[in-house]
Amino acid sequence: MVNAKVHELLNAQINKEFYSAYLYLEFHNYFKARSLDGFANWYMVQAQEERDHAMLFYTYLQNENMPVTLDAIAKPDKVFTCDMDVLKAGLEHEIYVTSLINDIYAAAYEARDFRTMQFLDWFVKEQGEEETNATDLISKMELFGSDARGLYLLNQELAARVYTAPSLVL
Ligand code: FEO
Repeated sequence: MVNAKVHELLNAQINKEFYSAYLYLEFHNYFKARSLDGFANWYMVQAQEERDHAMLFYTYLQNENMPVTLDAIAKPDKVFTCDMDVLKAGLEHEIYVTSLINDIYAAAYEARDFRTMQFLDWFVKEQGEEETNATDLISKMELFGSDARGLYLLNQELAARVYTAPSLVL
């Protein structure tokens, strides 16, 4: 029997992850409009990963016989004035998501819900990678993005990112 608070937070995370997918789709949309297809590709892969995260929470709840309640997905409402704004918003968002995962973990720990803690272990590691990727992207943009040739090459590098299914299977 899963603790009510843990259940509530797990259910809410489905929505948060779908929102993340929506947010990254908005980033994809921004870079498409800028004709920076490599950046757009990078965020499309990111959006696909977020959809996977949402489905992992969804499947976990169903596997544990916890009712799923789907809620409306919020509209991404940030206005970007430059490319770097987008990249920084990505890092800021991942730091926020890490805090959400930590909150669920803390609630599961308090409830001695070891199964949920084990499920969340993958996300704890994943969030570390997400924050590192977002930080690396900002560093590369700072180093190379300020001139046209550097931006062109960085865009080419980001075009090579390919989607892979998550290593966690439920
Ligand atoms: Fe699902 Fe980017 O955290």
